[in-house]
Amino acid sequence: MTRGIPGRMPAWSEEEGGTLTGHQIRHIVDFIKNWDSTLLEELEREAAGTSTPPPTTVPPPDEAAAAGRALFAAKGCAACHGAGAEGTNLAPALLGHSESTLMKWVREGGGGMPPFSIDQVSDEELSKIASFVERR
Ligand code: HEC
Repeated sequence: MTRGIPGRMPAWSEEEGGTLTGHQIRHIVDFIKNWDSTLLEELEREAAGTSTPPPTTVPPPDEAAAAGRALFAAKGCAACHGAGAEGTNLAPALLGHSESTLMKWVREGGGGMPPFSIDQVSDEELSKIASFVERR
């Protein structure tokens, strides 16, 4: 910073023909160092935050997806859509359907798809089925 980088960054210090005193340069360097470290700390906090499991009773996605796969068979979806929701000659594959699309189809039915009431498949069960379908 004091001397600059020939051809790329001008020299900033007064001794080298620049506009800043050594004192000012030290201030700027201190500022950049501090700024760097708070930024780093923030990144570290963020990284730590994502690796800690969310403090809820909702099962982690993998568990929900496994439960969803079991429910998919238990509720009869698999009979038409296939055990892995890969589709059969009775019903299409369910590739990456969002939870809301899935909810709408299951509650309303349509075409060859029978509607399921909340007594047959609860919203919670559907949500697990959705995480299974979403993660295929
Ligand atoms: C009796 C057979 C049958 C059963 C049981 C069944 N489905 Fe379906 N499903 C179908 C058929 C046939 C379609 C295609 C309807 C159409 O496109 O007109 C369909 C369509 C769908 C769609 C929309 C697919 C798309 O890409 O448009 C979703 C989502 C779906 N079913 C989810 C489920 C879930 C979840 C279950 C279990 C709760 C289930 N289905 C049970 C036959 C079935």
